[in-house]
Amino acid sequence: MGLNLPSFVKRSSSALLGIDLSASSVKVVELVPGQKASMRLQRYAIEPIERGAVTDGNIERPEQVAEALGRAMRRMSTRTRDVAMAMPSSAVITKRIALPAGLPEEDYELQVESEASQYIPFAIEEVNLDFQILGPSAADPDEVEVLLAASRKEKVEDRVAVAEMCGLRPVVVDIDSYASRMAVDHVSAFLPNAGQGQIIAVFDIGQMVTGVSIVLNGQTIFEREQSFGGQQLTQDLMRLYGLSPEEAEVKKKTGELPENYQSDVLQPFIEQGVADVARALQFFFTSTPYARVDRIYLIGGACVVPGLCESIAERTQVATEILSPFQGMEIADSIRERQLRLDAPALVTACGLALRRFDA
Ligand SMILES: Nc1ncnc2c1ncn2[C@@H]1O[C@H](COP(=O)(O)OP(=O)(O)OP(=O)(O)O)[C@@H](O)[C@H]1O
Ligand SMILES: [Mg+2]
Repeated sequence: MGLNLPSFVKRSSSALLGIDLSASSVKVVELVPGQKASMRLQRYAIEPIERGAVTDGNIERPEQVAEALGRAMRRMSTRTRDVAMAMPSSAVITKRIALPAGLPEEDYELQVESEASQYIPFAIEEVNLDFQILGPSAADPDEVEVLLAASRKEKVEDRVAVAEMCGLRPVVVDIDSYASRMAVDHVSAFLPNAGQGQIIAVFDIGQMVTGVSIVLNGQTIFEREQSFGGQQLTQDLMRLYGLSPEEAEVKKKTGELPENYQSDVLQPFIEQGVADVARALQFFFTSTPYARVDRIYLIGGACVVPGLCESIAERTQVATEILSPFQGMEIADSIRERQLRLDAPALVTACGLALRRFDA
């Protein structure tokens, strides 16, 4: 394969799994061509990862991550071995540069390499470099705009190693924010006028952090990270009810908790989440020329906490919905709809990776 990664350019038209190694869990998604719709969610799995095995997207303890991925793969029971994985955005340097139009492919490679050395704080031998020609430059018709991406080899190799421990073959390494954007774009394409002209705010409420990105006409116009996530709720449950992390994780999903849970734990958590969302929007309005948001999409595992979505809608007065990346797709009979509704927002990155199979 020649691991010249991360790769926006490589495509895989054959069977492919999207694999997201995140702080809380390993997520695997397999999309296949559908019969009535163009795609079908064939199977997925979410398996918990031990705490600290992945932090800030870094693989700290590869064996534990591989063990969780192995469990997920057994649950998947698929024959597919080619996988798409994602690097955390923090581990990848991206840069848009202008190069002369109409060069042979090899010349772009050389030019990208020499340009890259200006932006990368490591020796060029230590990085995986990749690029994508975005199209003609707006400023100069004799130039093309090129996106270059560089990542430390060891970071890429950490992921490849985990996949290989499970007998999998990484054929695409993407960037996590690009992958989740791909899934969000797939959904916003169903909006009236394909979402053109709409300012869409995406809140990814995960385990430790909430990622905010605001998009207009396919361009990211605002990005920010806030420290709010589902781990906070887990910790409150552990502290107040003397639960182990595993017990707290289960009970927060089943809601089988003492009566004061709603008022003493859940409500304050929701209030904090709502205040965080409102603050991010306020910051967006004061730091950009924009004065409105037309739609809020909630993604990430913790966004399904009962009442959070409604409270955000009420406070912000913006149409708010929990996003399923599988909108418009067929769903395999073996998948339980109720469970999928809870899991879908956590599967956005994995789904975006699985979508790479369908790149034109
Ligand atoms: N049904 C549910 N009800 C309540 N919370 C849930 C549910 N499903 C998942 N969560 C919570 O979502 C969080 C994990 O979300 P997600 O998988 O998006 O995070 P992550 O990507 O691993 O972490 P991060 O984005 O912070 O790196 C956990 O705190 C988990 O308890
Ligand atoms: Mg996440």
